[in-house]
Amino acid sequence: MNKISIIGAGMTGATAAHWLAEREFADIVLVDVVEGMPQGKALDMLQAMPIIGRDAGIVGSNEYEATRGSDIIIITAGIARKPGMSRDDLLKTNAGIVGTAATETLKYSPDAIYIVLTNPLDTMAYLTMKKTGLPRERVIGQAGILDSARMRAFVAMETGVSVENINCYVLGGHGDEMVPLTRHSNIAGVPLRDYISADKLEAIVARTRKGGAEIINLLKTGSAYYAPAAACAQMAEAILKDKNLIAPCAAYMNGEYGLHDMYFGVPVMLGRTGMEKIIEYKLDDDEKAMFEKSAAAVKETHEALKNVVEL
Ligand code: APR
Repeated sequence: MNKISIIGAGMTGATAAHWLAEREFADIVLVDVVEGMPQGKALDMLQAMPIIGRDAGIVGSNEYEATRGSDIIIITAGIARKPGMSRDDLLKTNAGIVGTAATETLKYSPDAIYIVLTNPLDTMAYLTMKKTGLPRERVIGQAGILDSARMRAFVAMETGVSVENINCYVLGGHGDEMVPLTRHSNIAGVPLRDYISADKLEAIVARTRKGGAEIINLLKTGSAYYAPAAACAQMAEAILKDKNLIAPCAAYMNGEYGLHDMYFGVPVMLGRTGMEKIIEYKLDDDEKAMFEKSAAAVKETHEALKNVVEL
């Protein structure tokens, strides 16, 4: 059986375990610093397996040792920004947590592929690659599937068409400057721009960009986790089943789209070796301008990271 370890058994980590267990293609380990919590959640989930008829093993632990021999490591550990905390403070704290999670798990699973969810996403993926020294194929950030799924959900709400017919591609950094590519998006092959009026489409794009904030404002005490966790389960499945699935993910740029030495949301092919290739769209001038603006925002956070941790 494949083995997937999830570091951080909070809302996103535990929900990822849930989606993964339902898909029944891997045993799952939940690791967290909170004593008893990952063990309790794992035991509870394990006891749901007879009800849903799935044979996934799920264990919880406070020790990295439990992750030994994992095929995939998912990192969701981190803290949310607290009142009075600066962005740099948050960056420093999460960089410490993610850096340790990455290097400690690598000791037990030298062949693992990493999926990073902790925010600021692009920068935490960058940190994971630098700290582990792994090739870029094996460190992938989750963001684009989520952002694209939000746009797909909004398009479905607007049109009443099945979500399965709706293809949307939201690329770029995982932040306000993300790049929803409406020209490349379609409903069953019909360009989105031909299906939905310009003002409605603009509203959908704006809502997509603020998708994370909309949920934080509603929840008040946390951020989204069902959809981020589902996105992460889809990535893990595509990798372990060697599907060659093309999906928007954060990948290390080595000249693609004119970008270097940074993580950025682009369409990638996911297969058994991880991020197997980056797909390059032909962008028009407007799209290029959006890419550049988004890349500049990500670069800024990468630079801030270099000021708070040694890479
Ligand atoms: N090692 C392991 N787990 C840790 C560590 C650590 N050093 N530090 C914190 N954690 C755990 C916390 O104990 C908590 O259970 O990480 C978990 C984070 O869970 P939540 O607070 O519920 O946060 P969640 O909503 O899951 O978001 C986690 O994913 O989508 C991103 O922006 C989100 O960065 C955030 C991350």
